[in-house]
Amino acid sequence: MSGIPFLNLKAQYESLKSEIDAAAARVLASGWYVLGPEVEAFEQAYAQMAGCEFGVGTGSGTEALHLALLAAGVGPGDEVITVSHTAVATVAAIRLAGARPAFVDIDPRRYTLNPAELARAFNPRTRAIIPVHLYGQPADMAPIMEFARARNLLVIEDCAQAAGARYQNQPVGAIGHLAAHSFYPTKNLGAAGDGGMVTTNDAALARRLRALRQYGWRRRYISEETGLNSRLDPIQAAILAVKLPHLPAWNAARRRLAARYRQELASTQAILPAEFPDSEHVYHLFVIRHPRRDALQRYLRAQGVGTLIHYPLPVHLQPAHRSLGNEPGSLPISEGLVAEILSLPLYPELSEAGVSRVAQVIRDFEEMAG
Ligand SMILES: Cc1ncc(COP(=O)(O)O)c(C=O)c1O
Repeated sequence: MSGIPFLNLKAQYESLKSEIDAAAARVLASGWYVLGPEVEAFEQAYAQMAGCEFGVGTGSGTEALHLALLAAGVGPGDEVITVSHTAVATVAAIRLAGARPAFVDIDPRRYTLNPAELARAFNPRTRAIIPVHLYGQPADMAPIMEFARARNLLVIEDCAQAAGARYQNQPVGAIGHLAAHSFYPTKNLGAAGDGGMVTTNDAALARRLRALRQYGWRRRYISEETGLNSRLDPIQAAILAVKLPHLPAWNAARRRLAARYRQELASTQAILPAEFPDSEHVYHLFVIRHPRRDALQRYLRAQGVGTLIHYPLPVHLQPAHRSLGNEPGSLPISEGLVAEILSLPLYPELSEAGVSRVAQVIRDFEEMAG
């Protein structure tokens, strides 16, 4: 068997090529290149999948988070509680809105915001919480929502890595007040470029989001407030509409392949992703922990297996965010994970034989290394 790349985005395009090509061509022929019917149709279809009444398409997941914060009135002087073990975008959005991120550590098994840490980060300036459904694993939302309700805080779910995941029988995105989604090409539902969406069940927030994503307009050319220009592109919306009906089957394939990894790696030193009976993990990433991660990654690379590390440096220790004053050692679980985590190839188009091959290379490594 030849090498196993970490990702293979072309395989998904090839599987739907004629429909995707036709969708893109339809938009090009329509002459309607910003917002319009293609975007509206996809907003409705995606929001419905996410259990929400309203969807507002944006230019990216980062801007979806930024716009969600602006629409909720979060800004300078406010604090937003979130995690450091996430994509930098979660934290960048808080800072772009002018607010201050207050970091809490993660649950050592879910790798998502630990609700038991919330009280420590809360203060009178706290306005919102952003839990991140990292790797496709839903955060433990029930205690987060309870904490927020008791203190009148807003909850914005970061669903970028968890399209189609469920928590206590609800789709992620339908649990908090607002949710941000990303259609970055590698995501479980990926466009052929950047794209994002905010979903909500709150009509007033949806109206404000629609204004804020284009210059603060409620009527054309009349700005009620300062907004951005961040709109989901109609060509991307048309492509995403072709892909959306396949999301459940793709997520099922990811779960099937994850189960195969689980079976084949059971006897190794790898710590496998945890599954919880109240949640449906959608395996955006299959992240193991290994005591000899760097040597294992080198060995996998030498055998033609692509892997990545999500993420190599917690956000609170990154150069852009050190000025917030969070010391090394302040988030021990998040910081400790960084040396051990390794993301293995996992995508719907990967074969079971491919998973077996990766697992075999890991077993070989352990046997060889003793
Ligand atoms: C957890 C998380 N939040 C936010 C984002 C930002 O999404 P985008 O890349 O579409 O801006 C990403 C993706 O990069 C992500 O993984």
